[in-house]
Amino acid sequence: MNKLKKSEANYIPVKAEHLPEEKMKWFRDAKFGMFIHWGLYSMLGKGEWVLFHERMDVTDYEKLAAHFDASMFQPEEWARTARNAGMKYMVLTTKHHDGFCLFDSQASNFNSMHSAAEKDFVAEYVQACRNEGLKVGFYYSPMDWRFPGYFFPEMYYENALLLKKQCWEQLRELMTNYGKIDLLWFDGEWLAHGGIGFNEQEGWCRDKNYGQSEYMKVNYFWESEKLIQMIRELQPDIMINNRGGWEGDFHVRERRIGDIRTDKPWDSNDCLAQSWGWMPDKPILSLRELIKNFVNIITKDGNYLLNVGPMGSGMMEDRQIVRLSQMGEWIKTHEEAIYAARGGPFPPGIWGGTVYKDNIVYVHITEWADDAIILPSVDNTLLHFSNLSGDAISVVQNKQEIIIEVPVQHRDPYDTIVQLVFERNIEWEGVLGHENDIYG
Ligand code: GLC
Repeated sequence: MNKLKKSEANYIPVKAEHLPEEKMKWFRDAKFGMFIHWGLYSMLGKGEWVLFHERMDVTDYEKLAAHFDASMFQPEEWARTARNAGMKYMVLTTKHHDGFCLFDSQASNFNSMHSAAEKDFVAEYVQACRNEGLKVGFYYSPMDWRFPGYFFPEMYYENALLLKKQCWEQLRELMTNYGKIDLLWFDGEWLAHGGIGFNEQEGWCRDKNYGQSEYMKVNYFWESEKLIQMIRELQPDIMINNRGGWEGDFHVRERRIGDIRTDKPWDSNDCLAQSWGWMPDKPILSLRELIKNFVNIITKDGNYLLNVGPMGSGMMEDRQIVRLSQMGEWIKTHEEAIYAARGGPFPPGIWGGTVYKDNIVYVHITEWADDAIILPSVDNTLLHFSNLSGDAISVVQNKQEIIIEVPVQHRDPYDTIVQLVFERNIEWEGVLGHENDIYG
């Protein structure tokens, strides 16, 4: 038996405690966050996987650090952009799969202190978030393409253990040196990309069926549950996602929205401009698409984590800043139907969905396939209703249904919001998630 297999056979996971619901309320209330992918790859404009996809020489890639002066790095601008967009938290790639750290690390010299900028970007980012009243999130990728042991953990087991050591030490640094951190967003806990493949066109590559591979679920390798315990000791209130080899306090849906789920907080993450790491000339989402996605997500009880990839200099593209501020303008006029509400209690449909707080339900209608929106009735009397997007509206409650009609000229081009005020607070059983909480 090889050493990796042996470590699997001998592994006994400890119990990692979940955060109680009340410590995750800020996340439930927040709805909207900014994801930032930024690193050496941002200078090349080919996305954050460029080192791997273009089979760059690792030593050449490392030399990019000498050119990384980040002359326009102004995290206050990022944070202000996020706040103006109506976002309540940020998540920054402290280290991506290329291994470059945006922070001062004793565990690896491949970090921003040894770049042209000679700065701890993470420290400045944390300060900027706090100054703007935003919650602070860290993205961290345990894997690192510079380690042969990552790709071939059986053959280079000692080297793989060095990778694990780096991961543990860097998380200890991140959880110790920057004050209170609100959220930790793991990504890339797999080994060997979840399976190395080979084909004529690409040569060696990520296997097409990597999702099924034995390298996907490697909590025994990282000792994930123990790692989570260490993180919790250092940051008792931190929310952790489900990509660290453990089921997580919250669930991540990458570039998809899926079904309503109320039993566990979740985010749907997506790119404003198609790529996580900056690429020039990529089309960006329209305001209509953003609003539609946002409504789709919040009515299903999730959060929208929207990615912006600043350029190598640290600047965000103007057009992206403009789009985000348009989104912020829209949110500002609809705040009461967004923040601190929960998804439900009515099932969402292609027309949109509902959110609620106390005895009020807000119906978000983004698509008028039919002229009447029909909701199943509830055992609760509708006291009054109004169309927050115009004047005229008709709502009828009978035993079976609640029927909503709004004349065309009183509909909002993006999202018609109807407020329904009931006699008693909304109570319902919610919806359980039907998805595997452990990534992979
Ligand atoms: C993927 C990619 C990565 C990106 C992440 C964001 O796992 O490997 O590049 O950071 O998704 O969700």
